[in-house]
Amino acid sequence: MEKTFILIKPGAVSRGLIGEVIGRFERRGFRIRAMKMLRVDNELAGDHYDEHREKDFFDELVGSITSGPVLAAVLEGPEAITVVRKMMGSTNPMAAEPGTIRGDFGLEIVANIVHGSDSPASAEREIALYFSEDELV
Ligand code: RTP
Ligand code: MG
Repeated sequence: MEKTFILIKPGAVSRGLIGEVIGRFERRGFRIRAMKMLRVDNELAGDHYDEHREKDFFDELVGSITSGPVLAAVLEGPEAITVVRKMMGSTNPMAAEPGTIRGDFGLEIVANIVHGSDSPASAEREIALYFSEDELV
């Protein structure tokens, strides 16, 4: 079994989509190993998206993820990282296939509903950024 980290972004939280997004992962069969609401501050946002620090959209990305409460969770299941990314759909919601989360609920790239780890190394790093060992059940 593999663990992955997901984060429901502020825009989706304020639109009332938490249940919809988490429900899809639950119905697919993933186990929720940890979950919490929090506000991401600038420091955590920078650590989370460290790989994008030099990109021209970095400030917009940090501004977006810090704009309101988010839901962070750890999901576990077979090939969780790949399967969750497939369920999320393409980064740009306008290009995301209908049936994917971004393809069903998003139109703007910065407010693309949900984040998911993109590799085992990212998953391990992101889980440790958002959760302490004793928060994983
Ligand atoms: P994420 O990390 O949020 O799961 O998304 P991702 O892997 O599909 O995409 P990534 O390349 O890691 O980009 C991270 C987030 O930055 C925003 N973005 N904006 N304006 C732009 O060109 C642009 N490109 C990326 C998106 O919100 C993306 O989710
Ligand atoms: Mg990414």
